[in-house]
Amino acid sequence: MIGIMKTEIVKIHIKSDGVGIEQQDQIQKAGHILKEGGLVAFPTETVYGLGGNALLPEASQKIYAAKGRPSDNPLIVHIARHEAMEEIAYPVPESAYRLAERFWPGPLTIILKKKDLVPPETTGGLSTVAIREPSHPVARALILASGGFVAAPSANLSGKPSPTNATRVIEDLSGRVDMILDNGSVGIGLESTIVDLTEKIPVILRPGFLTLEMLREVLPDVTLDPGIAGADTAAPPKAPGMKYRHYAPKAPLVLVEGPAQKVIAKINALAAEGEADGKKVGILATEETERYYSKGTVLCIGKRADEESVARNLYECLRRFDELGVDRIYSEDFPDQGLGQAIRNRLTKAAGHQVIEVS
Ligand code: TXA
Ligand code: MG
Repeated sequence: MIGIMKTEIVKIHIKSDGVGIEQQDQIQKAGHILKEGGLVAFPTETVYGLGGNALLPEASQKIYAAKGRPSDNPLIVHIARHEAMEEIAYPVPESAYRLAERFWPGPLTIILKKKDLVPPETTGGLSTVAIREPSHPVARALILASGGFVAAPSANLSGKPSPTNATRVIEDLSGRVDMILDNGSVGIGLESTIVDLTEKIPVILRPGFLTLEMLREVLPDVTLDPGIAGADTAAPPKAPGMKYRHYAPKAPLVLVEGPAQKVIAKINALAAEGEADGKKVGILATEETERYYSKGTVLCIGKRADEESVARNLYECLRRFDELGVDRIYSEDFPDQGLGQAIRNRLTKAAGHQVIEVS
């Protein structure tokens, strides 16, 4: 059935109070679709999600089929009240309550041991479950209307960059889901930070909008999973999804690292070489640097001085390069700290770890 079902696309507006939804009847309808085991794509504050009922095995199977994603890659269960954690996870450590208190609703996913209520189809066969309470009003309204537990990966076809606006979701998922809730562009643009609380020491499995430094304020001993750092393939990543080449544009992407002026010179040289070979070269630059590129198709990802703008535009730029039909992409790098850590992580993954260092 994949690719031929009818997809209803519904525009949703948030009321001026920032919480209420104008099309409540459509949200109820979407909630009903989820209760019945159907699929609804919806906005969250991070990226759009492809939602199904987390407690129904066949709904999770449909998610994998619609995305074309391997079914050993577990899904995040989205909730709308902190206490819902207790219905699907046991034990819930004190640290989970502290994180929820501080960062939920928001871009944080917590891994706990799962209860039997959560079917193995939703967790890729794992005995743990990933839980997130999103802050986006449309996501929250949908979760409440659906019975409270929505499994949702990012709403892209497997391997493509995550969608940060409804147009991209429609491109990827039309004919593959029952409904798409369109609320324009999201605010953050990068997926949630994932922290595993099932071991003695809390571990960040995927860097995200909430930085290591922010999590340390609540969990002083939290560390980064060594498997997610750069090209260190000695340690396999602990979040199954982090092992795939991912977040990726069609053209090969190469990250160029080093002092800014050297990076610009190197990218200019590589672009000149590529064009001499008859290739169309994409360059991922920033507001501060874009004017120094004389060759290639230059896209501005945002402002270095405002890393949130870089996070917001990253995936859309990668998709733009696909549309522009470039043969290869060279990107500047970002500092490995704060929000830069997540930006760098996604770029390195998009590059399949192809990094050139200049010094
Ligand atoms: O911001 C987000 O987290 C978005 C929005 C839609 O909420 N969702 C998202 O889902 O990014 P997805 O499926 O694209 O990424 C989920 C990641 C995958 O890398 C997966 O392997 C990991 O979470 N994951 C899920 N459950 C896990 C578990 N029990 N243990 C370890 N990793 C898990
Ligand atoms: Mg994803």
